Amino acid sequence: MKKIVLTLALTGTFVLAGEQYSMSAADKKMYEEMLENNPADIFVSDGEEIFEEEFGGEESLAKFLDVSEKDLAKYIAGFPRYVKKMGNVVGLDQVLQAMEVEQGKKKDALDSEKIFNTSAYVKSLANDLPVSIDVKENKEIENSFALGKKLYNTRRGYRGLSCNSCHSLPGSVLRTQSLPSLGGANAGGTWPAYRMTLSKLVTLQERSRGCMKDAGQEPLPLGSKEMVALEVYITNLAKENKKVVTIPGLKR
Ligand code: HEC
Repeated sequence: MKKIVLTLALTGTFVLAGEQYSMSAADKKMYEEMLENNPADIFVSDGEEIFEEEFGGEESLAKFLDVSEKDLAKYIAGFPRYVKKMGNVVGLDQVLQAMEVEQGKKKDALDSEKIFNTSAYVKSLANDLPVSIDVKENKEIENSFALGKKLYNTRRGYRGLSCNSCHSLPGSVLRTQSLPSLGGANAGGTWPAYRMTLSKLVTLQERSRGCMKDAGQEPLPLGSKEMVALEVYITNLAKENKKVVTIPGLKR
């Protein structure tokens, strides 16, 4: 019952991307209540448990990434990164997969609840730190950023839309939904987030796939070079907007 009411309340001008958009007083109240008690917290706690019990916790992650435990949170705030031993620019979800492989376990799919929840918990270790991706740190991330920028601006699919076609116009409205500026909305610092319309925790890449489907584009695979490049580009927009890591986000 509650869910139905929520869905109805979510139509119209209700947009969670930022304070810049107007919300009705009732919608605002509901959003504030949910923020205090984000339904995603339960998924993040599940991720914490898995991370401690199956991945060996912060100590193992720091060791895998070759950073000190003291610097781990700051290092996480800089993802996606080029991880030398993986030979690629990768997201935290792929780091978790690589840890599973290194520990001789079967790796879980990037779209599994386990990887979603655990990567959300791992990113939350950097909560309140500035989004600090450095797209000039090495040539690998420079290339990834350049690819992401290109893809963001490339028109694709039968509707001939690029990400930028919609997301360069903050404040405008598409079928009753405001179009968020991805930097202003801190997309890079707030996903994985709870998507109220889906009642589940979703990663930035999965959210982006949603837009690709809506825009009539073949969705890029999670963890592909292209998808990671888009995450790099979008995360850098958050950095340019001086955003901080705030996991889990709460979104429409
Ligand atoms: C047809 C217009 C359109 C196109 C094209 C589009 N988007 Fe979106 N996108 C939207 C709308 C509308 C929302 C917000 C919907 C809502 O309020 O839930 C959104 C939301 C998002 C968000 C979440 C923002 C937040 O609040 O944190 C991300 C991330 C995103 N889009 C990524 C992309 C990427 C990547 C592309 C290109 C592959 C893309 N979008 C293309 C319309 C579009």
